[in-house]
Amino acid sequence: MTTKDSGGDVRLSGISKTYGSFTAVHPLDLTVPEGSFFALLGASGCGKTTTLRMIAGLEEPTTGTVRLGDQDVTALPPYKRPVNTVFQSYALFPHLDIFENVAFGLRRRGVKSVKKQVEEMLDLVQLGEQARKKPHQLSGGQQQRVAVARALINHPKVLLLDEPLGALDLKLRRQMQLELKRIQTEVGITFIHVTHDQEEAMTMADCVAVMNAGRVEQLGAPAELYENPRTTFVANFLGTSNLIEAEVDTKAGDEIVLKAGGGKLTLPVGRCSASTATGGKVLVGVRPEKISLVHADDAGEIPEGRNRITGTIADASFIGVSTQYVIDSPVCSELAVYVQNVERDGRLVPGADVVLHWNPAHTFGLDAAQDIDAGTEEEAA
Ligand SMILES: Nc1ncnc2c1ncn2[C@@H]1O[C@H](COP(=O)(O)OP(=O)(O)OP(=O)(O)O)[C@@H](O)[C@H]1O
Ligand SMILES: [Mg+2]
Repeated sequence: MTTKDSGGDVRLSGISKTYGSFTAVHPLDLTVPEGSFFALLGASGCGKTTTLRMIAGLEEPTTGTVRLGDQDVTALPPYKRPVNTVFQSYALFPHLDIFENVAFGLRRRGVKSVKKQVEEMLDLVQLGEQARKKPHQLSGGQQQRVAVARALINHPKVLLLDEPLGALDLKLRRQMQLELKRIQTEVGITFIHVTHDQEEAMTMADCVAVMNAGRVEQLGAPAELYENPRTTFVANFLGTSNLIEAEVDTKAGDEIVLKAGGGKLTLPVGRCSASTATGGKVLVGVRPEKISLVHADDAGEIPEGRNRITGTIADASFIGVSTQYVIDSPVCSELAVYVQNVERDGRLVPGADVVLHWNPAHTFGLDAAQDIDAGTEEEAA
């Protein structure tokens, strides 16, 4: 991250794209700091590729400007921009071997001695041994790395990656995520990575922009977004959130007390993005892994000062590292609770009465005027 000049930052100002009466990208302001690994994350059709194509110059914006450092590139054709793109289909040249695929950009520019640069690039992506193979003789992940090498050899200031790992199976994808991150750290240029996979975005990026229906809903470091979602879409799309309908009761110092069902829940003022006027409606959020679960018989052992909710176990799935419970409660149906597999309480089975409790500091508050299911899988279906 840089606080010095805007040397190589990508700056989008008021950039939008409409197709007829349909707006694919609403006017968007976005700065991608030079040298960062930036992810555009969102569900299918939210405008990620369109945004990326406007940066590359493959799509003309309806309004707004694209700047790279001090240069306004909005009117420049793609090949005059210091930007390269890696697409989901890597489109390697099938008749050329790996060396020649990587050398292609240099040869086209009339560079005579390509050997040293190509070899360095192949080493960077750990394909030195494969130089004389044809693309069809490589695995999906290896082909993907050739595509990255082929783009990087042009020394772009910015590398755009549009779902580059989409064609790979899960295990290979995980490997390639770490590999791409390593390459980015090593070459130090800006990567803008488009994905609909929230884990992928969080694993790789320094900064994630969560897009929804042509707008950026929230932007920040992965942990910041996860811990402090400001909209129901972000709360539900990044991991899982329990959202409980509540009403502001009192505000005391830096805490808000809310009424939920018959009980009270406490929330730090600083973590509430909704209005905190008494009587106002707030969605109280808590992540499943922040919640502790005890059998109702042990409720007396819960320390003072915790938020607590009573309920009944509706479902329990043991998945090895944890057990995922679904709890029905008078204040909220289908609360998710993840309990790490340390010591398992044999009484915590479907039908058991339980108490959920958590540190009020782990609670966030959202504006209740939003769709409570935005960004959930049910909504997507
Ligand atoms: N040339 C076009 N004409 C009309 N509509 C278009 C055109 N290109 C894209 N769109 C629409 O714009 C919206 C955004 O498309 P875009 O390709 O940016 O989505 P995306 O976020 O990349 O989705 P995905 O994850 O499925 O690739 C979609 O609703 C799409 O149908
Ligand atoms: Mg796309």
